[in-house]
Amino acid sequence: MEKRDHFGSRAAVIMAMAGSAIGLGNIWRFPYMAGQYGGAAFILIYILCSFVLALPIFLSEGLIGRKTHSNAIGAMNALAPKSGWTILGYLSVITPTIIVSYYSIVGGWSVEYFLKSFSLNFGEFNPEGWGVLAFSTVFLAVSCLIVALGVKDGIEKFSKISIPLLFILIVVILAYSLTLPGASQGVDYLLKPDFSKISAKSFAFALGQSFYSLSLGMGIIITYSSYISKDENLLISGAGTALSDLLFAILAGFAIIPAVFSAGIEPSAGPGLIFQTLPFVFGKMGTAHAWVGVAISSLFFITVTVAAMTSAISLLEVGVAYLVEEKHLRRGWACLVVFLIVWLLGLVSVFSSEMFGRIDAMSSNFLLTAGALMAVLFVGWKMDENDVREEITNGGRVNTGTFKILYFIIRYIAPVAVLVIFVSNFVL
Ligand code: PHE
Repeated sequence: MEKRDHFGSRAAVIMAMAGSAIGLGNIWRFPYMAGQYGGAAFILIYILCSFVLALPIFLSEGLIGRKTHSNAIGAMNALAPKSGWTILGYLSVITPTIIVSYYSIVGGWSVEYFLKSFSLNFGEFNPEGWGVLAFSTVFLAVSCLIVALGVKDGIEKFSKISIPLLFILIVVILAYSLTLPGASQGVDYLLKPDFSKISAKSFAFALGQSFYSLSLGMGIIITYSSYISKDENLLISGAGTALSDLLFAILAGFAIIPAVFSAGIEPSAGPGLIFQTLPFVFGKMGTAHAWVGVAISSLFFITVTVAAMTSAISLLEVGVAYLVEEKHLRRGWACLVVFLIVWLLGLVSVFSSEMFGRIDAMSSNFLLTAGALMAVLFVGWKMDENDVREEITNGGRVNTGTFKILYFIIRYIAPVAVLVIFVSNFVL
């Protein structure tokens, strides 16, 4: 078997994890949700959800990976051999593989729109068809190549360049966006604390968004954490990831929403925001000076492409790690196998945007919550408390008071929170 790679430093861990976390959720969901569900008040709830609930779940998944230094299925086989808990391992490999099949389609749209930026001629948004297949194949192939290069030479290197780049790009776009006439309306939309908009919905959405944004419940944190050395403090890595993710979401909000308002339209969420509303906004920017529209839209679509790619890489790595360690494939072959499976699965979504929506809903509403729930129940109730303490406190070198609080949340509060998200899918 090939020698196991690991991340080279704390910064590398945080960059790779932030690469997974920062993605379409930050760009196309968070800004709209913040505006719709209470502005600054929603953002506050979101911050609480991220740090009080999502972070402990992140740690639960992280310690499963780091304790075993193994892929998701291998980890569960090591910790709870021949028990029902191994389902968590399988689920953790299946969910991301399904998700990446449509995530790479969005990646394909982004590549296409990046190219279209140069003419500012976006035409009508067409989410299906052969053109989409071509672009998403390119996106998927490049992502697989990066994964094939290895954890250190591929994923780590790519994330270390991409994450700082993403922050620079979004700040440039934000700076321009805030100078546009009428931008302040967008700032108000994002920030004005509107307590009348705070409802059970705001809480459930904030919670769901913080889960999705931190890539929980998909085996990603298990897999990436398995490349973290025993000396590294998991809590710091997790908090660093959550902080970068939050910061990027807020910056994306201020980059996008003021520009939308300045063009005199209402913001929306999802593919419509990025591939319909924004192209219109960029076109308007370009009416006085075409180069301004071209510059901002190409910067924006390269941002979306890179953000989606660092997430896609993390999704792919889960399956690849499994094939390399459990099936003893060479890394390159494992990437090829995953590429083919994902590409074939993607065909369904490429030719039917209805299926795309269904697969998205099924995976983010069911599979993801099931994975996160099993992970916290396993760590909170099945694993030996000493093992959990050992991982979270790095063998007693980290404050045990913090451990007690985290352990309490993992055991009692997090499972309820995950159930709330699950149920809210049906009733809200
Ligand atoms: N966390 C990513 C985001 O916010 C989404 C994602 C989902 C990434 C699944 C990887 C896996 O967009």
